[in-house]
Amino acid sequence: MPKENKSEFDIRKFVPEEEQRKTFAKVFDKRTIHALHKLASRGYFDIVEHVISTGKEAHVFLAKDSAGNNRAVKIYKTDTSDFNKMYEYLHGDRRFGKVKRNKRDIVFAWAKKEFSNLLLINKVGVSCPMPIAFFENVLVMEFIGTEEIASPSLKEKPLKDIKKAYKTEVGFLARLLFKAELVHADFSEYNILNRQGELVLIDVGQAVLTTHPEAEEFFERDLRNVAKYFSKKGLKKSMEEVKADVKALEKQI
Ligand SMILES: Nc1ncnc2c1ncn2[C@@H]1O[C@H](COP(=O)(O)OP(=O)(O)O)[C@@H](O)[C@H]1O
Ligand SMILES: [Mg+2]
Repeated sequence: MPKENKSEFDIRKFVPEEEQRKTFAKVFDKRTIHALHKLASRGYFDIVEHVISTGKEAHVFLAKDSAGNNRAVKIYKTDTSDFNKMYEYLHGDRRFGKVKRNKRDIVFAWAKKEFSNLLLINKVGVSCPMPIAFFENVLVMEFIGTEEIASPSLKEKPLKDIKKAYKTEVGFLARLLFKAELVHADFSEYNILNRQGELVLIDVGQAVLTTHPEAEEFFERDLRNVAKYFSKKGLKKSMEEVKADVKALEKQI
């Protein structure tokens, strides 16, 4: 590897498509490219194919490993403006309470938190992407989609059976709360994918343990999102009713 041209060499190797490479070079700093290269060299993925989503705090790409398996690679921006908000979610969570209040440490802890949350969520039987690896601001996880097409969100493609959707979401909330002691804190139709009729929960970087001082508030916000979504779909529910439906599952799950 020619030293003077290291980042160019690296990026060409794992982003073969020129247009995609241009996007990459514009959006990511050298250290992020290095982090990607590190994960690629460890075999977690081989090449990055194309962007799936460009959000405020992260970009998500479709990648492939050497065996041709699809992977989702989520890259948190190190120049996002929401550090203070992110810090609050980290600081109140005993797993990450000691994070230093600087941009880099906050973003790195955030990626690690999403990885840990995905592990925990998988363990309690809520469908979510299987986490594969993380390094600094980069997270590699199972790709949720069919062939190379990412599954649409529930917002884009609602379930035909609205009662089934409600039951599944209430089940998710109950398992998170009672088995994982976790509050998603951004639970909505945008962060649930519809994989051919199966619901898959995503975007769990902000999820906090129930001991977080604001956990109750976050939980009620999640419940309000659910109530609003289903009421709009004709299944009238108040936040209190959704809460009662979740609590009713405590002994059953
Ligand atoms: N594991 C995944 N498989 C397929 N698509 C994904 C995956 N994770 C995220 N996405 C896609 O990327 C979008 C943004 O991801 P998300 O985790 O919600 O980040 P944010 O909303 O913070 O930008 C999702 O709405 C979804 O379309
Ligand atoms: Mg999202």
